[in-house]
Amino acid sequence: MIPDGDWVMPQKPLFVMRVCINKRLNTDKLPNCAGRGSRGLADQLEKLIMAEGLPAELVRGPCMNNCSIGPNIKVQGGPLFNLDSDISEARIAEIMDAIRAEAAKRKAAAAEVAGP
Ligand code: FES
Repeated sequence: MIPDGDWVMPQKPLFVMRVCINKRLNTDKLPNCAGRGSRGLADQLEKLIMAEGLPAELVRGPCMNNCSIGPNIKVQGGPLFNLDSDISEARIAEIMDAIRAEAAKRKAAAAEVAGP
């Protein structure tokens, strides 16, 4: 039951994006996303998301089994990025475009459900 009065709907992110930050002990010289800069990339993306007020939550997660082409990032409902060591400004802009597109898609769907 939803209470009357001062109750305010909780502010939740509309979707999450997951960044693999797995770091191997690397005794076998296997590739890993953290070794390719995914932890710093996650911090950078999170700052950009917050700066724009996008309704996305960045989740730092474990290995996604695409280690040889990481860092790997999945936008919920959107694309999977296999950056293959390319964490350039152009790739970051591409990821941010995907996040903006997903936010717009979900806001439109929410507005449609809410009605006029
Ligand atoms: S270490 Fe990132 S996908 Fe395996």
